[in-house]
Parts: sequence; structure tokens; C-alpha cells
Amino acid sequence: MRKRVFSGIQPTGQLHLGVYYGAMKNWVRLQDTYDCIYCIVDQHAQTVEYDPTVLQQRTLEAACLYIASGLDPQKCILFVQSHVKEHTELTWYLSTIASLGQLERMTQFKDKTEQHGSSNLALLAYPVLMAADILLYKAAAVPVGEDQSQHLELTRDLAQRFNHRFGQVFVEPETLLTRGKRIIGLDNQGKMSKSKPEHTSIAMVDPPDVVWAKLRPAVTDPARKRRTDPGDPNKCPIGLLHFAASSQQDIDWVIKGCTTAEIGCIDCKKQLAVNIEAEMGPIRERYSELCARPDEVWAVLKDGADRARAVATSVIDEVRDVMGIKSPV
Ligand code: AMP
Ligand code: TRP
Repeated sequence: MRKRVFSGIQPTGQLHLGVYYGAMKNWVRLQDTYDCIYCIVDQHAQTVEYDPTVLQQRTLEAACLYIASGLDPQKCILFVQSHVKEHTELTWYLSTIASLGQLERMTQFKDKTEQHGSSNLALLAYPVLMAADILLYKAAAVPVGEDQSQHLELTRDLAQRFNHRFGQVFVEPETLLTRGKRIIGLDNQGKMSKSKPEHTSIAMVDPPDVVWAKLRPAVTDPARKRRTDPGDPNKCPIGLLHFAASSQQDIDWVIKGCTTAEIGCIDCKKQLAVNIEAEMGPIRERYSELCARPDEVWAVLKDGADRARAVATSVIDEVRDVMGIKSPV
């Protein structure tokens, strides 16, 4: 039997190259060797202020982008979180063993509370819903970006605590990271993120002129004040993007050229723009074709939810059973 993989992405804002190189590209790679379940987590997107009229559209767009990036609904399950109600049911059960102190210490909770100036119960419970997503399918591995590692640790804690208290039901999942596990924003101030100004991230669907307009003025290693100053690609958002997006040959060229000042930052950016377009151009094209056929994409998502539910209901039955919740007879 193949090992199971589960992961999710929120349908909020523009999906950017951090999401692509940190998570999505790995999802595509894994679908040939694992039993993969991928989810558009629309209920996670409700934990901060959102516009109900755009949530559905964003959900569809995220699905189009997944498929355009190479996820094949014949090889993996692709579905929307809210279509499988067992996720929220399991969230309740897990919340009975989740520690408030641990939830309050989550970095993402603290950041978002500060960013939005307030918080709510759903934002605090966010990692419990995420744990439910994963444990509901007994996933052995979860491909994500580094920013999700803390939530994965909490997921393992909850699985362990549950199994100890009620009996062996859940699998403790491992975290799968990639070379692009932390893509830095083009201002070189922390990770590329949907919630930061638009010019600091490159959207997966940005056309080449927009990509270049963002790359050209992007901040590089501060040590390279003059063209002749050597730099460190590990301290530069352009260098780090090359590591995730470029061939080994180009990566070697960047490392040698930057550390010896043989190449300038503009040369390095130009090559990156070419490499990004080579990968994103065909994805962008497939994406617009898919967006023009929304009914087909919703049908894929419905089929995915039906297949996911078949797994979810059997696990939730086990959970109910060990927790003393009796199903109606
Ligand atoms: P989100 O868009 O926040 O739902 O993130 C979707 C996935 O992309 C998660 O696995 C994140 O860890 C990953 N991710 C988001 N931003 C970045 C980034 N700047 N670098 C690497 N991975 C990221
Ligand atoms: N919290 C994740 C993020 O913001 C999204 C997510 C929700 C997820 N449920 C998940 C990721 C389950 C992996 C597995 O990126």
C-alpha cells in the first residue's frame, strides 16, 4: 500500500511563487509515488475578515491553478474542505484535548492577531482544524512550506494525546520540506506572503512584463553596494528564488558569479525572469483555459469530495466509537 500524503492551501489572495516552490511543485511530484489528497481549505480562509462574494471565485481559481500546475485528478484527490463535513466534526473532538496555552503560542496566531488588531475563536482554533484535515485521512506525510512546521508539530501532539487517551486511531504525520521551503519577499524583509504589498511577491499568473517590473527594482544582498562587491546568494531573495526555480547549471553560475562579483545583480535577475517564464508560461496558459470551463472544474471537485468522504467517514466512525459518541441506530 502507498503511503498517504495530505496538504492544503487557502483560497485567499494571489497564489505566489512562495506557495508554488514551497508547496505546490512538491505536490505534483509526489502524486506519482504516494496516495495524495489535496484540499482547498475554504473554512481556514474564514478565520480573518473576508468577502463572501469572492471566496467562491477564489476557490475555483485555486482549483484551476492546481490542475494547471500539473495535479491530475486521475492520480490524486482534489477537493474543497467544506464539502466534507467530517473536517469540522473532527475539529470539535480534537478541541477537547487541545491546550489553550499551546494554541496561544502559535506564531501565525500571534502574527495575525497583531496584523488584524483583533482575534476570534476560529483564528485560535485554526491549527486544530488543520490537524483535523490531516488526521482525518491518517496521512503519513504533509508537504508544506517551513512556516507551517509549528502547526505540524501541534498536529503530532494532538495525534499522540488522542491515541494515548482513547486508543490507537491516528497516524503521526511527518513534515515534507523542499529547497524552496522559505521563499523571501522581493523587499528582502521576511517570507513572500499574500498579506504583504503586491510588489514584494510574484504571482503565479503574473505575465513576463509584470514579473520584470517587480524583479528589476527588487532588493538584493545588501553587501553588494557596488557592481564589484561580491555577494552571498543565500542572503538575497533573487539567489534564493534561483535555488528553487533554476537548473543546477544556472545555480552554479549564480553562486560563482555572485560570490566573485563576476556577474551583476541585473544579469542574475534577467536569467531568473527567463527561468520563471519557462515554468510559469505554460501553467498560465492552461490556467486561463480552465477558468473558461468552471462547470468542469466544479465537477472534478465534487468527484474529489466524494472520494475523500469515503475515507473520512470511516475514520470518523472509529473516532466516534472510541470517544463514546454513539451513532443513531
Ligand atoms: P497559504 O497560501 O498560506 O495557504 O500557503 C500554502 C502553502 O505554501 C503552505 O504549505 C505554505 O507553507 C507555503 N508557503 C506560503 N508562502 C511561502 C513562502 N514564502 N515560501 C515557502 N513556502 C510558502
Ligand atoms: N495552514 C496552511 C497554510 O496556511 C493551510 C492548511 C490547512 C494545510 N490545512 C492543511 C496545510 C493541512 C497542510 C495540511 O498554508
